[in-house]
Amino acid sequence: MWLRSPRRGGRTAPAPPEPTRPGRGEFGRVAECYDVLMARVPYRRWVDYVEQLVATRKAQPRRVLDLACGTGKVGSEMRRRGYVVVGADLSEQMTRGCARQQPALPVAVMDATRLGLRPQSLDLVVCLYDSLNYVLEPEGLRECFRRVQEALVPGGLLIFDLNTTRALKVGLFTQRDLSPLAAVQYRWDAHWDEVAQTCRVDMWFRCRGPAGEEEFTETHYERAYEEAEVKEWLHEAGFAYVQSYDAYTLYPVGAMAERMFLVGQR
Ligand SMILES: C[S@@+](CC[C@H](N)C(=O)[O-])C[C@H]1O[C@@H](n2cnc3c(N)ncnc32)[C@H](O)[C@@H]1O
Repeated sequence: MWLRSPRRGGRTAPAPPEPTRPGRGEFGRVAECYDVLMARVPYRRWVDYVEQLVATRKAQPRRVLDLACGTGKVGSEMRRRGYVVVGADLSEQMTRGCARQQPALPVAVMDATRLGLRPQSLDLVVCLYDSLNYVLEPEGLRECFRRVQEALVPGGLLIFDLNTTRALKVGLFTQRDLSPLAAVQYRWDAHWDEVAQTCRVDMWFRCRGPAGEEEFTETHYERAYEEAEVKEWLHEAGFAYVQSYDAYTLYPVGAMAERMFLVGQR
């Protein structure tokens, strides 16, 4: 789940499942306080790491999609470094927050499992902070890979991270900050479903809004995917080169890993 303290730092395929939103309501109200919650996330170091992964493939991307961009922290940092970046996210509220805070970053509401992108129009697609764990159906994830692959130029890259099964299983997302000094107080309770391979997190927040103190709840679901199946699906989608790493390293994914990074090159 995204608030965990960061460490170091062709269309002929079967139709994807119906989108899971609207309805689940993730990243609705929470969009308003997302950046306060993310204040300590080292986005610049994450972009450094993305660039390190890009360098392993000797690629020189220019046109970038920040997929599931949230409020645009990754995309805006990449833009600052000279890339031509667009953002896309499923949540209207997050997209609005992005447009407000990063007016120079074009952003659209888009479902990662139903991307409508011009073929061969991108050099790099990044999708960070366990965003693809929010895709709950394997077929949705596979469709996402197919559509991204089509949108990339030959040699183009998809770089994304996923929470590992271990991270979702062991209750890491049962967290709280109820300090009266906190700008946003929160209490999260994680529940692992072994059959569905999903982690449900019941979230409660209290923050100061324009009308004084406000409380709200959201329920988030993330699905666990195995490293081997994700790599297989990337190959199936047409990526010629696929590699996985223990997050923020160039080492293989370890047994205790909580986050892994995947690189697919068309
Ligand atoms: C944890 S946030 C990460 C946001 C951003 N990448 C960051 O690093 O701050 C997960 C994001 O994934 C988005 N998301 C979830 N499911 C999605 C989908 N099917 N398509 C596009 N975006 C999705 C959410 O709206 C949310 O903004």
